[in-house]
Amino acid sequence: MVRIAPSMLSADFLHLEKDVEMVNSHADIFHLDIMDGVFVPNISYGFPVVEAIARKAEKPMDAHLMIVNPEKYIGRFAEAGAGMLSFHLNASDNPAGALEMVRSLGMQAGLAINPDIPVESLFPYLDECDFVLIMSVFAGFGGQKFIETTYSRIETVKAEIVRRGLQCLVEVDGGVSSSNSAGLIASGADILVAGSSIFKAADPAEEIRLMRA
Ligand code: DX5
Ligand code: ZN
Repeated sequence: MVRIAPSMLSADFLHLEKDVEMVNSHADIFHLDIMDGVFVPNISYGFPVVEAIARKAEKPMDAHLMIVNPEKYIGRFAEAGAGMLSFHLNASDNPAGALEMVRSLGMQAGLAINPDIPVESLFPYLDECDFVLIMSVFAGFGGQKFIETTYSRIETVKAEIVRRGLQCLVEVDGGVSSSNSAGLIASGADILVAGSSIFKAADPAEEIRLMRA
């Protein structure tokens, strides 16, 4: 059963409680995009917003760190209530150590890669990952166009996970909507992150329902 993770980057920050309640009622995971303006050319939001969402969230919070030195903030996200945490492979000097740190704090650990990084770069770390995050746009902004090579990238990493008998889930993030969800699920995606397609929809709950179908 696929899990739907609305990206709160596209939520209405003036009426955040309404969007948090929508996720509680219709989706599975809160996807929280954390950008530092250094690893990616954009700044999103930080702990005050994460902690506000945590007060009302009835579904797990998934922190997607697009920051340099992710190790420095893993503990803070655990304290803020994140249940899942991913960082980018090329943001860390010691990805295996950082994944271990995430797990030791009771969170599910994920490793993320942008579309220009070979998926095979993830293979040495799959034993330490509870999930991998395959970006289907370049990290940094919501509302970008889905990159079509993502399907084969998901197939490649999924085949390796199956071959090794691992439990690691595959999360896909960027330009995801009900128009490509079926193909992504067929390719092996377990978690679909979607921001603009859900929050800009006239009926977000219906868009989520269509993504599952
Ligand atoms: C991009 C973020 C995504 C983004 C997805 O850097 O990681 O989570 O918010 O937004 P959409 O679904 O609009 O591409
Ligand atoms: Zn994200």
